[in-house]
Amino acid sequence: MADNGDGGKDTLTIRDNRTGREYEVDILEGDVVRAMDLRQIKVEDGDFGMMSYDPAFTNTASTRSDITYIDGGKGILRYRGYPIEQLAERSSFLEVAYLLLKGELPTQNELDSFVHDVTFHTYVHENMIKLLEGFRYDAHAMGMMISAIGALSTFYPEAKDVLDADVRWTQIVRLVAKMPTLAAYAYRHHRGLPYVYPENELSYTANFLNMLYRIGVKDYHPNPVLERALDVLFILHADHEQNCSATTMRVIGSSQADPFSAQAGAMAALYGPLHGGANEAVLRMLSRIGSVDNIPAFMDKVRNREERLMGFGHRVYKAYDPRASIIKRTADEVFQVTGRNPLLDIALELEKIALNEEFFVERNLYPNVDFYSGLIYQAMGFPVEMFPVLFAIPRSVGWLAQWQEMLEDPEQRIARPRQVFTGAESRDFVAIESRG
Ligand code: CMC
Repeated sequence: MADNGDGGKDTLTIRDNRTGREYEVDILEGDVVRAMDLRQIKVEDGDFGMMSYDPAFTNTASTRSDITYIDGGKGILRYRGYPIEQLAERSSFLEVAYLLLKGELPTQNELDSFVHDVTFHTYVHENMIKLLEGFRYDAHAMGMMISAIGALSTFYPEAKDVLDADVRWTQIVRLVAKMPTLAAYAYRHHRGLPYVYPENELSYTANFLNMLYRIGVKDYHPNPVLERALDVLFILHADHEQNCSATTMRVIGSSQADPFSAQAGAMAALYGPLHGGANEAVLRMLSRIGSVDNIPAFMDKVRNREERLMGFGHRVYKAYDPRASIIKRTADEVFQVTGRNPLLDIALELEKIALNEEFFVERNLYPNVDFYSGLIYQAMGFPVEMFPVLFAIPRSVGWLAQWQEMLEDPEQRIARPRQVFTGAESRDFVAIESRG
């Protein structure tokens, strides 16, 4: 048992009042004890031993991680130690992707080589187009994306070799490269427009905008403000440690499934309105409210729990989400190009009320990343169905960084939580004619 240098010990003494026995368990860094240390606590020798019960993992660390640091109380977010504000200001999305995936900012040569590799993996097999064409004209873009990414695993059977670091890296590059292509194809399908192939001389975000919006011209040059705004939004969404979708990626990956299958699962987790589907839900909510005059009636419903204020609240942040502050500034820049989104007034008024009223203040309901992002996406011409996809493109990087870290962590094994069984005791089968 370690001495902590202050005369105390980095241990925890647990007294079981059922038996009067005491147990001393180590406290690891960050006020953490190992759940497995509880298993020695038993009433009788043959007992299974004690477990912790934690629905929704609100107080359980599932991993050690070097990737993303969040201090939810202070509103701090850092990737590999670098504050999100500095990265959003001074970096590019692919540079941040390299940082998250490799652990360090790239040298110029490393960045050039990474950008080159991503650029040259943007094309998808033509059969992927046939797959997408099988969807109904009004299919939700996220549903199409989940299927498409899952389908990619069948094109790259070697991706199953997840314990080979080189094979892993090739799949990582493929996924980062192909997400915008497939996202643009899903959008074009929805609009009934011909697919536009990737252009290698454009930047990651310019190429994406080109595949989305080029119609009837040879060259498409996105507005540089919008190109940069999308890049900043991608940086802000790139990772967020052990959230619902990253945990899904790790859990699926822990069975050594290939990364395309694991990422399809992570995307499904992201799709829900409480996670990455919230940006879409925010826009639908703002449109439903319709005008500032209708806000008081809407807020009454939130207080009565008939409505949820989408884009507010967070499991980890109990202060202003630092990503929301940056997005708010980005929104101003975008609106100077596109014109002001008329829903902004409703959003600002909702925020004002939420930051000042007791119901919201005592529950720490600050705007999160999804509150303002949808207003920007809408101003840039994206339909609401694309919003979760715009979250998923950059978050691929975070999922893949988490997946890679999980596979390299000798402490990780197949994920397998326990349960507290509350069902029936053993009972004998009853023939159907004797039931009821
Ligand atoms: N509107 C109204 N009340 C809320 C909201 C909200 N958006 N969020 C939480 N609350 C209330 C909730 O009713 C509860 O009140 P009470 O204690 O009186 O029952 C209290 O605040 C605690 O809420 P919770 O649901 O236990 O908190 P959680 O940590 O389980 O949920 C959350 C976090 C993000 C799912 C939730 O805040 C929420 O549903 N927000 C709206 C959806 C949203 O914007 N999601 C995007 C999250 S950020 C991007 C991402 O990471 O995906």
